[in-house]
Amino acid sequence: MKKIIIVLCAFLAAGALSSGCSDKKTTAEVSLKLDSQKAEWFKEAKFGMFIHWGLYSILEGTYNGHTLPDTTFAQGNSWYAEWIKPRLEVPDEYYNGLVNEFNPVGYDPVSWVREACNAGMKYLVITAKHHDGFALWDSDVSDFDIAATPYKKDLIAPLVEACKKYGLKYGFYYSHWQDWEDPDGALPFWCPWRPDEDFEKYWQRKSLPQVKELIEKFDPDLLWFDTWDWDTHITPERRDELIRLVRTYSDKCLINGRICYTNPGDNIDFLEMHDNLYPKEMLDKPWQTPATMQNSWAYHGKDYNWKPATRMLRYLVHNTSMGGNYLLNVGPKADGTLPVPAVRRLREMGAWLGANGEAVYGTKPSSLKVDDKDVYLTEKTEGDENILYIFITEPKPSVTVPCALSNGCRSLETGQPVDMETKEGSTEIRIPENLFKDRSIVVLKAGLVTAK
Ligand code: GLC
Repeated sequence: MKKIIIVLCAFLAAGALSSGCSDKKTTAEVSLKLDSQKAEWFKEAKFGMFIHWGLYSILEGTYNGHTLPDTTFAQGNSWYAEWIKPRLEVPDEYYNGLVNEFNPVGYDPVSWVREACNAGMKYLVITAKHHDGFALWDSDVSDFDIAATPYKKDLIAPLVEACKKYGLKYGFYYSHWQDWEDPDGALPFWCPWRPDEDFEKYWQRKSLPQVKELIEKFDPDLLWFDTWDWDTHITPERRDELIRLVRTYSDKCLINGRICYTNPGDNIDFLEMHDNLYPKEMLDKPWQTPATMQNSWAYHGKDYNWKPATRMLRYLVHNTSMGGNYLLNVGPKADGTLPVPAVRRLREMGAWLGANGEAVYGTKPSSLKVDDKDVYLTEKTEGDENILYIFITEPKPSVTVPCALSNGCRSLETGQPVDMETKEGSTEIRIPENLFKDRSIVVLKAGLVTAK
């Protein structure tokens, strides 16, 4: 019966979309909620790869002698290379003309997926369409897409195939709100205001049909929508219309909270933090932090602010200890190759996770609190035993945990035993200096004596 209703709704919704207006009644039977079981893989995943790639990658953060961030044009001060069009006032004809140059002959999706897997990542999210409106797939809805480039071939299809082959979950960033190519899409706040009835035309003509197309063609595990504090036009009605559309065409696709940042409602599947933001409190939904390796998301040739791998591992550990994921971005170059500094960092992180991943995957946040900002905890059950993992991110002689430990305490990576002393329910662990010699995060493993 459920199937019949879904099929019927899909049929009716398809009709509504193709006729350019949506009849909310026809899709009313579709529940906006997704069964929370379907988000289990996401909670277990911990670490994912974000990919920002598109026409903007050609410019690498510089246009007409100006490089982002550039305050000459007085329009915000940001490094984000994917924002170059409005920030450096690149004329439409010039920017949209980049389709004639985009020719990523070095694109090798299998190598991207292998880098992600080797780094310890369990899912991948790519900008199928960013704010500039350009689609990386061969879209039936818009001609501003990969088919119009000299490369011609769909970029999403082979990536999806590679993800399936290597067992990586995959999702798409889709800019449902900002669209700088469509005459009616939303524009940055410093540009002329779009009347809402014009935005509605874009919404029905491009945004909803492309989301439907992405689901039908590629069956993603998640959709990553993007709004932030000034999410104009994305009313609760439009938000729910989009959620309903996704639920109609997919019974597995997760939806992130930035579908409407200021008012995500109850029916999204996970919360999306602001860029590079790490919450200090536990949240009651699954969540993740999207994070950059440079300051920019898209490749920026003059942004030399590459974060050290250990700092990024610390963010990962922070989020893991708080029940959240870490979605780390890579900005490929326009030719399809991954920047060398990004690859080195991915491999370094993967090497650390290869040795210490036991403390990350399959664990949950600990209810114990340690009064030390450099220390994070996770827990897991092994047979009858509760295991505590202690991450120490800065060298220090000792750490005190508010519990008794059984079975000794050892370095997870080398097995080196460490001394400890338990007094009145607290254990002081003395950490041998040699453990910090390679300046990496030290993980200790101990049996946890739970208070009766
Ligand atoms: C912001 C930016 C965007 C980037 C995103 C990633 O919303 O507008 O360029 O894709 O954050 O989190």
